Amino acid sequence: MGSQSSNDFTALWAQHDLGDVVVSAKELHDRVLELGRQITTDYTDSPPLLVGVLKGAINFMSDLMRAIELPVEVDFMAVSSYGAATKTSGVVRIVKDLDVDLLGRDVLIVEDVVDSGLTLNYLRQYLGARSPKSLEVCALLLKEGEQRVQQSLKYVGFTIPSDFVVGYGLDVNERYRNLDAIYTFTGEA
Ligand code: IMP
Ligand code: MG
Repeated sequence: MGSQSSNDFTALWAQHDLGDVVVSAKELHDRVLELGRQITTDYTDSPPLLVGVLKGAINFMSDLMRAIELPVEVDFMAVSSYGAATKTSGVVRIVKDLDVDLLGRDVLIVEDVVDSGLTLNYLRQYLGARSPKSLEVCALLLKEGEQRVQQSLKYVGFTIPSDFVVGYGLDVNERYRNLDAIYTFTGEA
C-alpha cells in the first residue's frame, strides 16, 4: 500500500526486525481524517460511544476521536486472544470491561485489525447483549482472506495482505506500538 515516502523513515532501533512499509504515516493520517469525517456525517444526530479495544487500538483511537467533530464519549476494553504468539488461539478473554452502560447508546467499536475475526465476533455478542441502540465496527485494518467469521464492518481503514504487521499500536510481545507507520514484522516473535 504505497512505498516509503520521504518523511517516513524506519526508526533505527526497530529497523532490524521490520520489512516493508504496509501503510505509511501519511496514508494513516489521511485515511483517519477521512474516517473521522465520515463518522461525523453518519452520527451527527446521535454522537456515538467509541469503544476502543486495548491495547492495539490506542494510536488509532487517539487520532480518530480527534478527527470526529461531535461530542463523542470514549471507553476502553481489554481482551486477550493471542497470548504472546502471532497466531490466534480462538480463545478470547476479557481483561478489562467497560465502565459505562450501553443501554440505548450508539456504540462504535474501534479495532486495530481484524484477522480471523474471532475477537470481534466475541466482542459483538458480548456488547450486543447489553442492549445498545446500535453496534457497529470501525477497524483500521482488515486482513485479506483470513476471516473465519463473516463480519459486517461499517468502516475499514485499509485492507492488507495477511502478513503479521506491527506499528501504530500493533505489537509483537508489546513492542513496536510506538512506530508511526505499519510494517511487516520479519523478526522472531
Ligand atoms: P482476530 O481475533 O484473529 O481477528 O485477531 C484480532 C486481534 O489479534 C487484534 O485485535 C490484534 O490485537 C491481534 N492481531 C492480529 N493480527 C495482528 C498483526 O498482524 N499484528 C499485531 N496484532 C495482530
Ligand atoms: Mg495484540
